[in-house]
Amino acid sequence: MNWKRKDLLGIRDLSKEEIVFILDTAESFKEISKREIKKVPTLRGKTVITLFYEPSTRTRTSFEIAAKRLSADTINISSSTSSSTKGESLKDTARNLESMRPDAIVIRHGMPGAPHMLAGILDSSIINGGDGSHEHPTQALLDLFTMRDKKGRIEGLKVAIVGDIAHSRVARSNIFSLKNFGNEVICCGPPTMIPPHIETLGVKVEYDLKKAVKKADVIMMLRIQKERGGTSYIPSTKEYATLYGLTKNHIDMAADDVIVMHPGPMNRGIEIADDVADGPSSVILDQVENGVAVRMAVLYLLIGGEA
Ligand code: CP
Repeated sequence: MNWKRKDLLGIRDLSKEEIVFILDTAESFKEISKREIKKVPTLRGKTVITLFYEPSTRTRTSFEIAAKRLSADTINISSSTSSSTKGESLKDTARNLESMRPDAIVIRHGMPGAPHMLAGILDSSIINGGDGSHEHPTQALLDLFTMRDKKGRIEGLKVAIVGDIAHSRVARSNIFSLKNFGNEVICCGPPTMIPPHIETLGVKVEYDLKKAVKKADVIMMLRIQKERGGTSYIPSTKEYATLYGLTKNHIDMAADDVIVMHPGPMNRGIEIADDVADGPSSVILDQVENGVAVRMAVLYLLIGGEA
């Protein structure tokens, strides 16, 4: 496939063929991280800026590691230490950064559509590292990569997505990609955390966790998005944990070879029990490992050019 995109703004925009192409490219990059010298010259001379207006451990770090393993130069900017604290707008910040001729800007912002706005005004490739409760495309890509790696396929799976669906960009991006591949997706959580009319995206809704995970091939747990007011949608965290916390009992109801996923950060004892998070069904750290290969693939395909 001839990759022609300038930006990666959402997984909803990507065809099945494009997604498989990214995953296959990531597969070829995964081995580099296992070498003693974890570096190839593929993106030598390229510059990648990560511009994060929200906290991150996994996404920001793995983009930086991915860029460095491909020999790109990386600069990390977080809003708390940038001139946005002095009142500079996102548009002005972005235009100033563009003047220094980066090749790609990875942006995380609380405002849905912020990456799309930048993509419209900048020549640099823009990668959405999470925009509000809208999309988190590289998370969905690494989740698909992990499912394909562990289950041998990304079609014909029964996937239960459990938690604060309403505020989750991870849920939204995964729903788009999983439905694109014709999977059965069940969204489960308290009624206040399930967006109205979500069935129009082709998913089923289930309020009972035991029913949602029955014979599931994949259980994807989400945390309550406190930063988007998630806790005000439930009577108490204790009640939430009782009704929607994943325990060993739920694993026994799922498919024998179920995998448990979580994008992180986890709130142990709330949405997931310790012995599940660290148990044999958990692929949570595999997701993190695969995130590096997937982000290497995304950077390579967007800014690698013919080289
Ligand atoms: N999954 C994810 O986006 O994690 P971070 O917030 O740590 O980047």
